Amino acid sequence: MNKAEKERAAVVGKNWTPRAYIKSTIEAIRAQVGDKKVLLAMSGGVDSSVCAVLLHKAIGRQLTCVFVDHGCMRKNEAKEVKAVFKGKFGINLIQIDAEKRFLEKAKGITDPELKRKCIGGEFIKVFEEVAKKLGRIEFLGQGTIYPDIIESGVGGHKAVKAHHNVGGLPKDIGFEGLVEPVKYLYKDEVRKVGRALGIPAAMVDRQPFPGPGLAVRCIGELTKEKLDILRDADFVFRSEMAKAKLDRKAQQFFAIMTNVKSTGVKNGARTFGYVIALRAVATQQFVKAGIVELPFKFMVKVAEKIATTVKGVNRVVWDITPKPPSTIEWE
Ligand code: XMP
Repeated sequence: MNKAEKERAAVVGKNWTPRAYIKSTIEAIRAQVGDKKVLLAMSGGVDSSVCAVLLHKAIGRQLTCVFVDHGCMRKNEAKEVKAVFKGKFGINLIQIDAEKRFLEKAKGITDPELKRKCIGGEFIKVFEEVAKKLGRIEFLGQGTIYPDIIESGVGGHKAVKAHHNVGGLPKDIGFEGLVEPVKYLYKDEVRKVGRALGIPAAMVDRQPFPGPGLAVRCIGELTKEKLDILRDADFVFRSEMAKAKLDRKAQQFFAIMTNVKSTGVKNGARTFGYVIALRAVATQQFVKAGIVELPFKFMVKVAEKIATTVKGVNRVVWDITPKPPSTIEWE
């Protein structure tokens, strides 16, 4: 057992239960935080949602959640997060529209890891600014989970990619430390804890969405035009999966902006539009992933719907490559 595995085993033993985990985590949060304050980076995904509720239960109003719209969110994401966390749970939530700032910062960057670093770095700056405005906030909350730690090369594992929420804080961050209430859990375990916490099923079963969001599904430079096209295509795909009740078959399904343009034809005239790729994967721990077999008629229907209704798109392809050799995300 390496260091990371030993640490996980100490927190999540063979006979762990979500209830016991919640109880001990709430105690651990209280012991770590005391009467200090926590600022939680909420992405809208299941990991940070579970963190938010765990922290809220542990420290109530000492927690401030910040949802930063970095312009790489899915359609309607900000609204949905507000409705659930502010509306239902009464969590202290601040939403910040930082789309312009992030896109300006990411201008010209095409390398996937540099994109991640750019977004991660800007995230930290935004939180620092919010923290300053809010007065003294000692801790930064994060929804890091165990696969993030493994894939970032911690504990003797080989680094696959740099996850922006792993690796600690820069020295000048201004926070005393990190609170990471789910960092030794795999995704399915996070969901179990979420259910036990009473988070609505729609939120708990929601597919995971990476911190850098659509940035890792939008190949090449990030532009508002490409991201808007991707958002619309992704929305059509997700809606059709839900309508056909196929959404339970895949742990992750999404559209990718390939950054390739191809020739098409619309109303008898030539078009030159973007190629969108679609991907639906089944996976237990996200370290390996298989392809979900969707009905062929459904695949054709969705491709056609996206190519005809999403402006700027005239071709849709399906990605049927498992992980490995591909990763789940395209970047
Ligand atoms: P990959 O693409 O590595 O994805 O097969 C494995 C799981 O991790 C998610 N993922 C990320 N999550 N920041 C995140 O918070 C990232 O940079 C990142 N990259 C991938 C991916 O969606 C999948 O669930």
